[in-house]
Amino acid sequence: MPGSIDATLFRETLGHYPTGVAVVTTATDDGTPDGMVVGTFSSVSLDPPLIAFYPASNSRTFARLRTASAFCVNVLASDQEPLCRQIATRREDKFDGVGWRAGPLGSPILEGAVSWIECTFEEVREAGDHFIVLGRVHGLTVERSTLPLLFFQGGYGRFSPGSFVAAPDPELIQAAHLAETIRAQVEELSTEFSVNCSVLARIRDDAVQVLATNQGSASDSPPLGHRQPVIPPMGAVFMVDEGPAAVDEWLRRAPDDSRESRELYSALLDRVRERGYSLLATEPHLLERHRAALSAFEQSDRLPSQERAVRQATAKLAELFCPDLVPGRSYDLASIVVLIPTKADLPPMALRMTGLPGAASTAQVESWIDGLKRVARSVPSTP
Ligand SMILES: Cc1cc2nc3c(=O)[nH]c(=O)nc-3n(C[C@H](O)[C@H](O)[C@H](O)COP(=O)(O)O)c2cc1C
Repeated sequence: MPGSIDATLFRETLGHYPTGVAVVTTATDDGTPDGMVVGTFSSVSLDPPLIAFYPASNSRTFARLRTASAFCVNVLASDQEPLCRQIATRREDKFDGVGWRAGPLGSPILEGAVSWIECTFEEVREAGDHFIVLGRVHGLTVERSTLPLLFFQGGYGRFSPGSFVAAPDPELIQAAHLAETIRAQVEELSTEFSVNCSVLARIRDDAVQVLATNQGSASDSPPLGHRQPVIPPMGAVFMVDEGPAAVDEWLRRAPDDSRESRELYSALLDRVRERGYSLLATEPHLLERHRAALSAFEQSDRLPSQERAVRQATAKLAELFCPDLVPGRSYDLASIVVLIPTKADLPPMALRMTGLPGAASTAQVESWIDGLKRVARSVPSTP
């Protein structure tokens, strides 16, 4: 029976399953650290709290580790590949130069690891040429919320958060050139109304700021090159001329893909199509949450958890999106956006006004919109 599965095929097939990388550590009575790299760490049970890893039954390191009273699983970060390579050797001095401190049960917590989970041995069970080690968790912490080291097909790597990753793009340069051709008009508009105006280009899933003129309340003005993920309802203006497939992709970027949420964002998009602009009302709490989520995301490794927070905070802005303009009322607006008509070989572009004074009359809002539409139409490449 053992011969019925080819060893190479077994390794090759299972090597197509990615894993994280962890170092299981113990300390001897005199405080000397010991440990082994495992790709087989996994969580097992919450009640009781159990984790597992699978050491080879002929592992000399594990033969030593299992004599300790406790052990610690250290999840390695994507910048710890050299440490991983050092500890995965059979050298006696493999912990030389490795920074660590003792956990509550005395096991080494490695410096720079993403997280640690300190356990006692619950059970060591034989399983073919490996053991299944069940550990009972006594303490655990995320030390460093960053990307973990991954192991895949015999090589190391790191998670690349897909949708929001910035990459240099020829379309961006074209968009910046086009924006330059209307710089004077955008500056004039900014001065005329004492507001901030910026030109945005949609590059894949991001709205990228390619020109900014700031005559409004400067504090709310993001820098040139700033990227903001296009998540419903934001970016609706970019969708007005798009076909069903692109709209569907945009809708799927919402945190909740339910029918209700699709209907809500589709209705908002219809409103933008009808009117030719989008408005975002001010609500300090929701806008602050959105800004905080976005800046945490930008300042991190663009972690998936932060990407989710951005999606959620953006989706919440639906409540503030495109209020009706009723004569006689006043409006506190965060932004107004209109589409810039561009030729087919250019990315979709938009003109945005921010830094707007509060309590604006309907007539005032309408004149801002007219100003934006006028400048957007002045783009020379308009077909
Ligand atoms: C990414 C990676 C994952 C590994 N995963 C395991 C594992 O899950 N179980 C195991 O026994 N050895 C694993 N190893 C091998 C051990 O880390 C180490 O090389 C081995 O313990 C050395 O042999 P020794 O214990 O006999 O000294 C892995 C090595 C690497 C580089």
